[in-house]
Amino acid sequence: MIYLQTPEEIELSRAACDLVSRTLGEVAKWVAPGITTLRLDTIAREFILDNGGKPACLGYGGFPGTLCIEVNEMVVHGFPSNYVLREGDIIGTDCVVELNGMHGDSCYTFAVGEIDEKTKRLLEVTKESLYKGIEVARGGKRIGDIANAVQTCCEHAGYSVVREMCGHGIGHKMHEDPEVPNYGRRGTGPVLKPNMMICIEPMINLGSKNIVIERDGWQCRTRDRKPSAHFEHQILITPEEPEILTTFRYVEEALKSKSVNQ
Ligand code: MF3
Ligand code: CO
Repeated sequence: MIYLQTPEEIELSRAACDLVSRTLGEVAKWVAPGITTLRLDTIAREFILDNGGKPACLGYGGFPGTLCIEVNEMVVHGFPSNYVLREGDIIGTDCVVELNGMHGDSCYTFAVGEIDEKTKRLLEVTKESLYKGIEVARGGKRIGDIANAVQTCCEHAGYSVVREMCGHGIGHKMHEDPEVPNYGRRGTGPVLKPNMMICIEPMINLGSKNIVIERDGWQCRTRDRKPSAHFEHQILITPEEPEILTTFRYVEEALKSKSVNQ
């Protein structure tokens, strides 16, 4: 069942989304060669707790982190570890917070120092595809319209769309109906209605679309070990343009001041 959020739930969700966005902004300050992904995870956890939130991924179905850590070929659900980031890596940090009973969910993929041009372009196009999906997400449109917008953008650029993983509805629970795939046909799937709240999260591979899930049941990598990118926003459907509840503003501010201080 697709739930329509009440004005009170929407107001609380705005706060949860602001907190998860600020958490990614905090993580952005620390992403650099030499730091472990476990350290980034601790920074995120402490920031969320200090701000009255709950790290929603931690312990979810046994997941061991506050952040899903997606280094290079890791598509989703990577574990924080002692891995030390190196110049040229990319790292996606996917984070969900719970605040006053509602969830905020967002993901950003960072370049660690200088990265090669091909991977840089993958990051740009994946982020662009997220906004293409958001652009068509209005009351009266369908899930397939979002899916098709994301897919078209990425495949035109020569990349491939992961099939097994999707965006989702969100609210009191982290994962609610509907599923929001990143591939599909226009005019298909559930109709979008005002006050639906969904997460759009393209997971896009430089090489083939195939993935492998490790024996731990979580960590998901590209089969060809080429890089994969992931960006996510939580949005509220309205009769017109959607309201983007999460923001990359804090991340972008952090990245800007890092490059000034270099
Ligand atoms: N943003 C991810 C998702 O929507 C976060 C889930 S990770 C989990 O699926 F560990 F909590 F499952
Ligand atoms: Co999500």
